[in-house]
Amino acid sequence: MAQEQRPFLSSFPKHEEDETDDEPTQQFELPPFHRRKDFTLRLICIVEALGLLALSLAIVLIAQRKHSNLECTRQVSAYSPLLEEPDLVKYSDQDLPLYFNEKTEYRGPPTPEREILWETLWHQGAFEVPEDKLDIMNKSHTGRSYKHVPPEVGTGYAAQLGVLHQLHCVHMLRQWSYKEHWIDRGLDLPGSLYGDPRLTRMHLDHCIEVLRANIMCTSDVTPILIELDPSAPFGERADFRANHKCRNFWDIRQWVMDNTAIP
Ligand SMILES: *[C@@H]1O[C@H](CO)[C@@H](O)[C@H](O)[C@H]1NC(C)=O
Repeated sequence: MAQEQRPFLSSFPKHEEDETDDEPTQQFELPPFHRRKDFTLRLICIVEALGLLALSLAIVLIAQRKHSNLECTRQVSAYSPLLEEPDLVKYSDQDLPLYFNEKTEYRGPPTPEREILWETLWHQGAFEVPEDKLDIMNKSHTGRSYKHVPPEVGTGYAAQLGVLHQLHCVHMLRQWSYKEHWIDRGLDLPGSLYGDPRLTRMHLDHCIEVLRANIMCTSDVTPILIELDPSAPFGERADFRANHKCRNFWDIRQWVMDNTAIP
C-alpha cells in the first residue's frame, strides 16, 4: 500500500514527512533523489507560507493604517487649495468660551477697538484657485464664466474663503443688532449697512441664509451638557463651554493674507 502511495506522496511533502516520521523503517525510506526533491519542495512551501503571511500582514496594516488628519479632512471636504498645503489645516481640542454670560473681546456693543477686531477677522482679499480645478469644484459645466486673478499673478480664478465670508455675515448681523449705536449718534450706518435700505435688507437676509445653510451643512454634533446649579434661575443651565475640535483659524486666515491675488 505504501509503495502505491509513493508517487502521490512525493508531491505532498507534508504527508510524506508524516509517513516517514511515523514509520521510519528501512522499507519506507525514500531514495536520496526523492529526499532532495522533498527538501526543495519543503523549502518552497516554507517560502510560500512566509510570503503569504507577509502579504496578509501588509493588507491588514494598509487597511488599518491610521489616516492623517489632512487625509481625513480632504475626504470629507470639498476641494480647496488650502487642503493642498501639507501643513496648513490642523486641529486642536478647545473649550470654547461660550457660557451664557461669558465675556470675550468680540462680545458687546460697538467700540472703535471692537469694530476693528471684528473687521480684522474677515476683511481679506481674494486668492487664486488654479484654472484646472473648475471641474472638481463642479463649475466647468455651469456655462458661466468666472473672474480671473490679474495676469501678472497667474492664470487661475479669484476666490474668497468660505469662513471669512461667514464671519463677514456674523459681523454684519451683529452691527445691525446694534444699529441704534450709530443712529442715536446721528452717524451713518457702518460697512455693508450703509446705503440703499432695500439692498441692506437683501444683504442681511442673504447673510442669515448663508449662516443657516452652513450651520446645517456642518451639523456640529458636539454634546452640550446641562449644568446643575441651585443658584441659577432654573436650578440648571446649559454648559455652552463645550469641548470642540477646532481648526486653526488664525493660520488659515494668514494663508489668505500670504496668498493675496487681489487685495
Ligand atoms: C453640479 O452642477 C450641476 C449643474 O450646475 C448641478 O445640477 C449638480 O447638482 C451639481 N452636482 C453636485 C454634486 O452638486
